[in-house]
Amino acid sequence: MRGKFITLEGIDGAGKSTHLAWLAEFLRRQGKDVVSTREPGGTPLGEKLRALLLSEDMHPETETLLMFAARKEHVVKVIEPALAAGKWVMSDRFSDASYAYQGGGRGLATEKVATLEDWTLAGFRPDLTLLFDLPTATAGMRLAGTGQAPDRFELEAGGFFERVRQAYLDRARQEPRRIMIVDSTNNIEDIHRILEIRLLSIC
Ligand code: TYD
Repeated sequence: MRGKFITLEGIDGAGKSTHLAWLAEFLRRQGKDVVSTREPGGTPLGEKLRALLLSEDMHPETETLLMFAARKEHVVKVIEPALAAGKWVMSDRFSDASYAYQGGGRGLATEKVATLEDWTLAGFRPDLTLLFDLPTATAGMRLAGTGQAPDRFELEAGGFFERVRQAYLDRARQEPRRIMIVDSTNNIEDIHRILEIRLLSIC
């Protein structure tokens, strides 16, 4: 039987990375064979593109094209073969991030992102997307608390993340069955309880 594809989204600092490990472990306890991966990245070429995307200054359209170039490799080499083998794939970000960051954040027309998505993915979508939502100021404080050096996106000003957040929320409103908004201001135990119920509904 074909596996399921779950993606985690949210502005930087919203907590998706914290929850990814727990989610993978929860699914393994349900007997699923789980593959955890991330974007940009997930393949040797994708990780090289990631290094460029997180450090080099570039035009927003160049950025978007490279995101989708990395994504195509990721889908063809990692995600699709794993799903076909019955594995469950969890990705730290996927196409919704391009709508949110390049569309919302950088101001690229949504239609351009949609055109690339249709061209490269031909209707391929996650079975479930968990959108970790948090006010941008709270996310910024959490990021600062990690002590890690910020990448090119994390250096953006608050207004950028406000636009990213709103673009994510717009997508969730457009696709409420696929995208579940998780209120990241809740404590971790409450979030896990909510996630358990949702995941069990598709297991
Ligand atoms: P992120 O998951 O935040 O990495 P880390 O947890 O290591 O900081 O992803 C890196 C950045 O890439 C993030 O700031 C958002 C950005 N990004 C886009 O702008 N568009 C995309 O399509 C994707 C997948 C990521």
